[in-house]
Formats: sequence, structure tokens, C-alpha cells
Amino acid sequence: MDVITSAAALRDRLQREPHNVFVPTMGNLHEGHIELIRIAKPRATCTVVSVFVNRLQFGPREDFDRYPRTLEADCARLKEVGVDVVFAPQEREIYPEPQTYVVEPSDLQHILEGAHRPGHFRGVATVVLKLFNLVMPRSAIFGKKDYQQYIVLRDMVRQFALPIEIIPAETVRAPDGLALSSRNNYLSPGERREAPRLYQVLCRARDEVAQGARDFRRIELEAMAELARRDWRLDYVAVRRQSDLQEPGADDRELVVLAAARLGRTRLIDNVEIAA
Ligand code: PAF
Repeated sequence: MDVITSAAALRDRLQREPHNVFVPTMGNLHEGHIELIRIAKPRATCTVVSVFVNRLQFGPREDFDRYPRTLEADCARLKEVGVDVVFAPQEREIYPEPQTYVVEPSDLQHILEGAHRPGHFRGVATVVLKLFNLVMPRSAIFGKKDYQQYIVLRDMVRQFALPIEIIPAETVRAPDGLALSSRNNYLSPGERREAPRLYQVLCRARDEVAQGARDFRRIELEAMAELARRDWRLDYVAVRRQSDLQEPGADDRELVVLAAARLGRTRLIDNVEIAA
């Protein structure tokens, strides 16, 4: 496995691998990331993983500084699972000058996560386009835990006609249902015990919709009230169309219920798809 830190060395190494598959990450890898790599590996002869905590996608009061950086352990795990190339650049390699050209996603960037994290998807789309330009992968894998991120990037690739297949991967969960996330490390033991409730509440909402309920607003409000009773601070619970994350009509069938809420200092997001 080659661990590469410069863009020039990466291009040089990947000249020999025109058909690579790419898994972008911010490191602090867990089984969710490893699952993305398992999906990637059979698709190409060269699997590339980037590890880069992208300042551009963090708001001024978010956790950029305390985001866990565990490159040594990450590389050991990536080697075990047979990754070929790790790209772990310093910030100055990705942003050698202030990034004044950015990708401005559609209005999708302003709803749900975007309403609570202004500029987040601009930062994600900008760094992912830049990473795509460096890696030039044939395909790239993104977890559906970050559902809106997956939709934004899928649309970016389509709109800019990038020759890259975007492959979504199912969310990996702990045995008690909690979606795996690097931010779970911030939870205290008590919060960790409470955290699976987010998924349980989403599953109840999903079941109601799957059984035919169509008063989505009531379902969202009940889910939020249940979490609020347990001291969660809610950003949103929303039933949306899978295709574009807009509010569904009564005839829409392919839906997803998404949520974001804080437990103590930790902001968790999750979602479950509904085939109603
Ligand atoms: O999902 C992530 O870890 C990040 O948003 C990504 C896609 C690596 C961009 O920084």
C-alpha cells in the first residue's frame, strides 16, 4: 500500500491505474468506511482512499479542530483490507491558496442539513470535485448515512458530466442500531446508551408510512416530540422523496425519513429509506 501526501506524487502513481475506484474519507475510520472499501475493491484493480479533514465544509462553530485525526491507525486498517493507495495530504496541498473558486450546489444545499450547516455542501462539493480531479476515478463510493451528501454529489457528477459512477452504500450500524460515525466517539457512556433511540424513532416513522399513513407532518412532529422528551435537541425529522429530498405528495412511494439532533455536545444524523 502506498501512502502519498502530494498531489504530484498521486498523479504520478495513478498514471499506472486509469481504472481506479475511490473512497473519499475524513479518516478516523470505522466499520462503515471499511464496508465502502469492501464494495470498492471488486470494482477495479486499484482502490484509492483519501484521508483529509476538509476545513471548507465545517462551520465556524463546528468541530473542525477536535475532529479525530488518527492517520496511523487508519493506514494500518486500510493495509489490512487491501487498499492500494492512500492519499493523505496536508491542508496546503489541497488548498495552496485561498479557495476562491467553489462548487455552488443547487438549492438542495439550503434544506435539511444545509439549513443548519450553511456552506457545508459547498465545502463538500468543492473538495470532492478537487479530489476527483486529482484521483480521476472510474467510480466513487459514498455512504447513505450522509444521504443528502450522496444526492448532492450524485447531481454534481451528472450536471458537470463527470465520467464517474457514484455508488451509494448502505449505512452500517452497531448491533443496537446506532449508525456508525466518527462523531459517536464524542458521546459519553450515558449518551451512547441513549443514542440508538434516533434510529428507533426513524424506524417507527418508516413503519407508519409504509403502512399507508400520509400525514407526514404529524409523523415528523411525533418523532421530534419523542426525542425531545428524552433531552434531544432537534434540528429536524423530515419525510422526503428519495430522488430529490423534496416534500412528498400523497402518491410518492420512494421516500426517506431523515433526522438530525443533538445529544449533549454531539450532533447525530441518520435516515431510513421507505418503500411505501
Ligand atoms: O463524508 C465525508 O467523510 C466527507 O464529507 C467527504 C465526502 C470525504 C468530503 O470531505
